[in-house]
Order: sequence, then structure tokens, then C-alpha cells
Amino acid sequence: MEQSSSHNELIVDQFTKQAIPFANMLAHSDEYALKLLFALSEANKKDIVLDVACGPGLLACEFAKMTAQVTGIDLTPAMIEQAKLLQQEKGLNNITWDLGDVTYLPYNDASFSLVITRYSFHHLIDPSSVLSEMKRVCINGGKIAIVDVTPSDDKVDAYNYVEKLRDPSHVRALPFAELQSMMERVGLVNQKVGFYRLDVELEKILQASFPKSQDVNKIRQLFAEDVNNNTLGVGSYYKENMIHFVFPVTIIVGQK
Ligand SMILES: C[S@@+](CC[C@H](N)C(=O)[O-])C[C@H]1O[C@@H](n2cnc3c(N)ncnc32)[C@H](O)[C@@H]1O
Repeated sequence: MEQSSSHNELIVDQFTKQAIPFANMLAHSDEYALKLLFALSEANKKDIVLDVACGPGLLACEFAKMTAQVTGIDLTPAMIEQAKLLQQEKGLNNITWDLGDVTYLPYNDASFSLVITRYSFHHLIDPSSVLSEMKRVCINGGKIAIVDVTPSDDKVDAYNYVEKLRDPSHVRALPFAELQSMMERVGLVNQKVGFYRLDVELEKILQASFPKSQDVNKIRQLFAEDVNNNTLGVGSYYKENMIHFVFPVTIIVGQK
């Protein structure tokens, strides 16, 4: 309990600072990635959607355009503020926002037909229990979609090390096989899987992150060392003298 409340403080601290830069980062609205998620989750006009750890509402607003109703829940008040602004800007009237911890979802069993979460599992101390909660609030036959970075087995420790330096609220990214078996263990069936690669510039990511100041040069050094030898598993490379790298992302959809 103590561990989770101090972790939640880290989350709120980090994502209060990240709320505006995260909302404005183009990579988080990548069209190919969104289309792939819509296709795999088979989102449709009848769906009642829950976006777990919705952040600034980027996904929730996109799903609201093609489904009946969307609820977004997040722990960080600054993220929910950004989400409300985005909803207003887009003129969407079928979304509600809740402030809360997704460890225990404050919804009745079988309240949603599609439950999604993006880029959140690596921030959770117990992603498997959150997945069980996502299943609980989903109707029988409904879909559950997880989108997250999945480093390969042999690079995952190096990746988690540098990510924790960059974002101290990072807990652990899971390799694909672990995510897949987690879905199986909670009893989700008919899995559908897709992959995409998110290309980002290191300095832009650093501008939107809030590492400890003494760690910034260490992070730059680790990415510079990654160029040519791919120890972090993110294929770092130079483009116009700037370091870029690629997050390997998995979409996995299961059915209750
Ligand atoms: C990297 S952001 C992703 C935001 C959004 N899902 C997206 O893809 O655009 C991670 C979000 O998870 C939220 N979060 C982390 N742990 C949480 C928890 N236990 N309960 C609710 N939200 C949480 C943070 O506040 C943050 O907004």
C-alpha cells in the first residue's frame, strides 16, 4: 500500500509536468498507429468505451468520433484538464472524464464493450491486476486492447534502465511474450496482434520528460552508445546530427 502511494506521487509529479508537452507531441497522434488500433479493436458506433489511464485524452477523443460513448480515467489532474480542453476543441459531447487510480476501477461489472489502454502498463506496479479489472468492467464478448512498448527479451533490462532514468515513474516495459501470456492468464481469448514503430528525436523526447538533472547527460551518452550497436533495442541513429530512436510498440486485443 505504502509502495503504491509513493509510486502514485511519482506518477502525478511526472505527468503534471508532462501533461502539456505530452498532449502536443505529434508522435502520440500518429495516424497509422491509430488506424491499426481501430482496425484490431473493431471499434464501432455501438461501442461503450473505457480509456484506462487516458492521459490528455488523445485516444479517447479519437474513439469518441466513431463510438457511442467514451469514459476516460486518469490519476493526474493536469492530464484530465488537458483532456477536457481537447474535447472542447474537437466539439465532442459523448465523453466523460474521471479522476482516479486505475488499480481499482470505479465502475460496475460489465459496464463497457471496449476497454483500451495505451502507454500505461509500463507505469503500473501490478499491470496484471489492472488487466483483471479491465476484464471485470467489460461485457462478455467485449474487447480489451493494450498498447505499449515491448522491447525484445534480450534488450529489456537495458531499455528499462534508460527509461527509468528518463522518466522516474517508469516501472517496467514488458516483452511481447509476457504481455501475451498475461492476457491468456486473465482469460482473454481470440487474441489479435499488431506492431508499429514510433520514430522520435531524443532531444524532443527529453524536452517533454523530466529526469533528474544529473541524469540527462548519462541518458544522452547511453543513446549515443546505442547508435550502431542497438544495446537498448531501439535502433538509435543520427539524422542531421540529432539522435533519433524507435519505440517498438505492440497492440494486443483480447476478447472476454
Ligand atoms: C504515458 S501517459 C499515456 C496517456 C494516454 N494513455 C495516451 O496514450 O495518450 C501515462 C498516463 O498514465 C497515467 N497513470 C499512471 N498510473 C496510473 C494509475 N495507477 N491510475 C491512473 N492513471 C495512471 C498517468 O497519469 C499518465 O497520464
